[in-house]
Amino acid sequence: MTRALPRAVAAIAAGAIAVAAIIVGAVPASRGAPRALEMPQAGAPVELRAVLGAVPDRRRGARLFAMCARCHEARGQDPADEWAPILAGQHPRVIAKQLVDYRYGIRWDARMERIAGLHVMPFAQDIADVAAYIGHLAPERTLSLGDGEWVAEGGELYTTLCLTCHGPDGAGSDARFIPRLAGQRYDYLLRQLHDVVDGRRPNMAAIHERTLSTLGVAELDGLADYLARLPSEPCRAPCGR
Ligand code: HEC
Ligand code: HEC
Repeated sequence: MTRALPRAVAAIAAGAIAVAAIIVGAVPASRGAPRALEMPQAGAPVELRAVLGAVPDRRRGARLFAMCARCHEARGQDPADEWAPILAGQHPRVIAKQLVDYRYGIRWDARMERIAGLHVMPFAQDIADVAAYIGHLAPERTLSLGDGEWVAEGGELYTTLCLTCHGPDGAGSDARFIPRLAGQRYDYLLRQLHDVVDGRRPNMAAIHERTLSTLGVAELDGLADYLARLPSEPCRAPCGR
């Protein structure tokens, strides 16, 4: 929805400009369709700054989380919706960036684009509050693991390719917007890795596509299985620096 709408608007705008060009005979270079197309996503950094600048109210965040519990479990643990990730203990700045990315169509998922949209969470403050609440939920061990066949290979690949950013224990970094991967669901992680390779997760740092697209199915499986088995620690402020 949020992606289709700006495109549709842009297409109408482009059509209108084309008609205007025929009538007037010239279009100023500074106005036109490309500007209309770029507008929606250009708002994301501004919104993220507003979210990070807000003073979060965790109790209000807890109330907002009632909307999320249907898919993300009452305390952000292993979800009932098997497509959804564990949220408990994820870094607040990572949560905030992901919500802004969904809101602006920079990350794609129909359900999350709707929930992070302006109709449901109209204010930057809403995102700040719910992200702060989530960051303080202590994660429990996930029940979603692989069959263990490729764990050792996954561990070696992780050390070589991923550890510099995601950290030796997979804890990520709040300051650097790097997600905690330790103890995340295997099925969710595996899908994200495939989504990167297939071009369906456009907000990931470019390094992922470069490295992950050189790996085979078993190696991706090993990475996801290895990470799901790493113990996850609760995020204590200031966490993951
Ligand atoms: C209808 C089900 C549903 C609801 C309601 C929902 N989510 Fe989600 N959420 C999902 C799914 C499915 C994904 C995984 C999407 C993907 O693969 O990009 C997800 C992903 C996320 C992510 C990305 C996590 C990561 O590790 O990158 C965040 C953050 C998130 N949800 C927060 C929320 C918050 C906050 C709410 C409530 C305001 C909420 N969700 C409500 C289904 C839901
Ligand atoms: C240069 C630093 C860097 C390296 C190297 C790196 N990552 Fe990441 N990773 C990030 C950042 C930053 C994000 C958050 C991207 C975003 O904002 O969506 C991320 C996100 C992810 C996610 C999504 C997590 C979620 O909750 O949805 C997965 C999975 C992931 N990385 C796996 C890996 C694996 C596996 C490797 C090694 C093959 C790797 N990364 C290497 C920086 C890095």
